[in-house]
Amino acid sequence: MSVDRKKVLVLHGPNLNLTGFREPELYGKKPLAEIDEDIHRFAEPLGMEVRTLQSNHEGVLIDAIQEHRRWAEAIVINPGALTHYSFALRDALISVRLPVIEVHLTNVQAREEFRRHSVIAPVCVGVIAGFGANGYLLALRAIKESEVGAI
Ligand code: DQA
Repeated sequence: MSVDRKKVLVLHGPNLNLTGFREPELYGKKPLAEIDEDIHRFAEPLGMEVRTLQSNHEGVLIDAIQEHRRWAEAIVINPGALTHYSFALRDALISVRLPVIEVHLTNVQAREEFRRHSVIAPVCVGVIAGFGANGYLLALRAIKESEVGAI
């Protein structure tokens, strides 16, 4: 018998493919492939089915959001620098009418001025920032425990 598992799309934006190598004092030493493995391992006992994707290209992220609009029940996204200026990404997230959680490895509020503003956050259920890669796992827990997909 197949169990109905909650389907979550996890997206990583520009430059996050270099996590582990890029400014490790800020973003941590763990490579993105290992972060994705952790996400999958964490999702399993929560009864969730997760697809992860990283792209350096705004259009690829938008295509993924659109293509998953019927599959996904929630989206977790670290939009990288697109957070601060991509109205196209924001519009895509609004268009698919799915609950979205924005995640940042760093506490963007404690960094440069330009990182303190998100054009994505206003279309999200919530934002998790400053807990490193654990932020993705916290987002999955939030979806599970607050029944985010049911809103
Ligand atoms: C980031 C924060 C962004 O300002 C930055 O451009 C990133 C990573 C984070 O995870 O802390 O690429 O999204």
